[in-house]
Amino acid sequence: MDETPHDRPWVERYHRKQTTTRTAASRLRREYRIARSLLGELRAGATILDLPCGIGPHSRRLTEEGQRVISVDRNRWMLGYAQREAKPYLCLQGDARRIPLQDDLADGALVIRLFHYLDEPAERQAVLREVSRVTRGRIVLSFMHPIAVAPLLKARPTRKTQDLAQIRQDAEACGLRVAKVRPVFPFVKRHWFVALERQT
Ligand SMILES: C[S@@+](CC[C@H](N)C(=O)[O-])C[C@H]1O[C@@H](n2cnc3c(N)ncnc32)[C@H](O)[C@@H]1O
Repeated sequence: MDETPHDRPWVERYHRKQTTTRTAASRLRREYRIARSLLGELRAGATILDLPCGIGPHSRRLTEEGQRVISVDRNRWMLGYAQREAKPYLCLQGDARRIPLQDDLADGALVIRLFHYLDEPAERQAVLREVSRVTRGRIVLSFMHPIAVAPLLKARPTRKTQDLAQIRQDAEACGLRVAKVRPVFPFVKRHWFVALERQT
């Protein structure tokens, strides 16, 4: 199985940071509020794909809301936390480019904090095509915008960024359109969200 380079100790440290610091908790709450509003109205018990689920913060909230969540990640240690703490309907180890699910299974999907791993349009489009294959409804996608002030104040390695024009191009190449756009803190933070829909 294709895995991320993150081993068990790395994931344990990541989990500790995400679950014990107030900044991480408030960031995740804010991101979830945005993602949830972009998913739009859902019937109770809707099937939602969370990919990559990581340690499952968004899967947990969706499950608590009564949705049938399918959590997918390629890292088994991340998935272990998601399974225990989010208790989704289904937890699967898998790659975003080859999702082990049937066509049109999900009513909606979250693809949060994945695109900053993907530099090439072909890689991003392979992911979007797969997510779109298994999702009938909205796909809520996040990406890192290149223009933002906050990262200039930190000595962090540059993540792979995309602007909205690139995201639109990727979406259109996969038969999707950008229905809504929500930056987390416009031009302060890099993180932006979009809602994608199938072109009719
Ligand atoms: C920063 S975490 C974000 C997870 C979650 N969406 C969140 O917001 O907390 C990124 C995750 O992407 C997963 N990942 C990276 N590339 C992937 C791929 N090609 N297929 C599936 N999962 C992948 C990693 O294993 C990691 O758990």
